[in-house]
Amino acid sequence: KNKLTKVLSLTLALAFSATALNAQAKTFKVAVGDGAGGTQHELGKKFSAELKERTGNKHKAKLFLNGQLGSEQDTVNDAAIGTLDFSILAINNVTPFSPSVGILTLPYMIQSLDDAVALTQGEVGKELVENTIRDAGVRIIGWAYSGFRVLTNSKRPITTLEDLQGVVVRVPKNEIMIDTYKAWGINPTPMAWSETFTALQQRVVDGQDNPYITNYAMKFDEVQKYITNIRYLFSIEPLIVSEAVFQDQKPAVQKAILEAGEAATQHSAAWLKDQEANIKKELASRGMEISDPANGEKEWIEKAKTAVWPKYIDSIGGKDKLNSVLKSLGREGV
Ligand code: MLT
Repeated sequence: KNKLTKVLSLTLALAFSATALNAQAKTFKVAVGDGAGGTQHELGKKFSAELKERTGNKHKAKLFLNGQLGSEQDTVNDAAIGTLDFSILAINNVTPFSPSVGILTLPYMIQSLDDAVALTQGEVGKELVENTIRDAGVRIIGWAYSGFRVLTNSKRPITTLEDLQGVVVRVPKNEIMIDTYKAWGINPTPMAWSETFTALQQRVVDGQDNPYITNYAMKFDEVQKYITNIRYLFSIEPLIVSEAVFQDQKPAVQKAILEAGEAATQHSAAWLKDQEANIKKELASRGMEISDPANGEKEWIEKAKTAVWPKYIDSIGGKDKLNSVLKSLGREGV
């Protein structure tokens, strides 16, 4: 009897300490909007490896690709209320929750990877982190860089705005992007990212825009034929954490999360430089036809800037703000 009691209490003690350990270890859920092989996936993989290492294998981050955890915009809501831990999504799907983020989606604002890095990792980025915590309940802890959003479609080669007329283009539910297409003379179709492949496949829409890397990761070459190299938006994809979940973590874990996010950001810029040209070639070899916009994109640029910039100056923080950002990029003010 005595022996039995001893065995029982030992078993109980073991069970108890195992539970205590488990209570500390955590596998965070990370929603990823895109499929495997894109910049979002790459950022997520690096983040998860770094987090594991920095927490001595205790905390893990499990990625759910292809919008399995909901549309990109829904994941912001879920993270805000703390039912989702992390999400990696395109910045244009954060703007509706925090208008100042629109500075990163103004057409023709960001003209290179260097501009994107300067804005996200400098003062502007720091402010946007604060603003999204305040407005949207999520904290940006990393950035992926995906390149310019090129226009794809299944109808015809497009180089001029005339060619664009009559083409039905899907856009994210982002006012700035909707207005940009309106400035180009068409009424685009706002639609969640998670529904886009099927809509292209069923010809509900003829086209959409996203970076080479994203078009490749989403296998859009299976449902799209033509690419136009417009450069109105350089795609930036933040890694966000629910602010509620973040505040729930011990300081050492918070530190590990922030550092893992930073390491993933550095990795993302290098990865883009390494991959983009090859992926462009790969899409061409799969039969996609690539053209440049006519006239050095002049008409596209003029129409978009004239119609869209004045309309959004206030929501992104006013004219002085815009001019100081332009100046920091070495460009003329408005
Ligand atoms: C969108 O078009 O909604 C997003 O930019 C897609 C993405 O996250 O890659």
